[in-house]
Amino acid sequence: MSTVYLNGEFLPKSQARVSVDDRGFLFADSIYEVCAAYSGRLFQIERHVARMTRSLEELTIRFDPRGLVPVFERLLAENGLGEDEAAYVYAQVTRGVAPRTHAFPTEPVAPTVYAYASRYQRPTPERWSEGFAAVTVPDRRWARVDVKTTNLLPNCMAAQAAVEAGVKDAILVKDGVALEGANNNFWAVIAGAVVTHPVTNVILPGITREYVLGICSKLGLNVELRPIFVEELSEAEEAFTTGTTTEVRPLVEIDGRPVGDGRVGPITRRLYEAFLEGIAA
Ligand code: PDD
Repeated sequence: MSTVYLNGEFLPKSQARVSVDDRGFLFADSIYEVCAAYSGRLFQIERHVARMTRSLEELTIRFDPRGLVPVFERLLAENGLGEDEAAYVYAQVTRGVAPRTHAFPTEPVAPTVYAYASRYQRPTPERWSEGFAAVTVPDRRWARVDVKTTNLLPNCMAAQAAVEAGVKDAILVKDGVALEGANNNFWAVIAGAVVTHPVTNVILPGITREYVLGICSKLGLNVELRPIFVEELSEAEEAFTTGTTTEVRPLVEIDGRPVGDGRVGPITRRLYEAFLEGIAA
């Protein structure tokens, strides 16, 4: 039985209880964060804490997430994930428990804070080298997806569409632009340039995206931060997604058509190799 963290306590998951009046449950009035841990070490934790701080500020939920770092470390240790190759921690902070009215509670309430740790399965090198398929799906999300809220129903529906299509990723499309995946960022290599959407309110500013942009600059790759139009995908040499638990995932087929020559491309491979070196360092 795994140990989880809820409102200041470490307890068996089976004993963790949240009120039915919790605004996270009633309204998705809550934010979350997912951070990878490699060999027990939290990856890019400062960036995750900074993004969490911003998400909380945007929703005016008063909570300082810096105190969660030792909580994450203890969850990894207590759940035997210290030596694990690839694990992650999940944290969610809701506005708290209050009688159901849409507007925020007038009296301040304590936020509900939940965290757990888990392992995840990285594809084998052989499976990774085959590449993955994706489908495009209309983006039906709200206008502030830069805030990492648990308001994820459109993402879940997109992910389900991918499952039903028998593919790995769903790429969300709005106004002809392939914005990002249901739970990762989207990239393409077009005319030799590595292209991904700039940080605006229409994508989540991925921590892995930021890290991979750092790798691109170290490798001296030509990067373009601009929208990727679906129409351009037929000319793309390569495509891939990035994210915590996605890492760098090559896409060799989108909507049933091959990307480039239908095989994992050299730039995606170099980025993944550099990523794996980075997490092992
Ligand atoms: N998802 N875009 C969306 C919509 C996401 O949900 C995520 C992460 C990303 C990638 O962000 P990062 O590199 O910081 O993980 C992009 C997490 C992992 C999730 O929902 O489980």
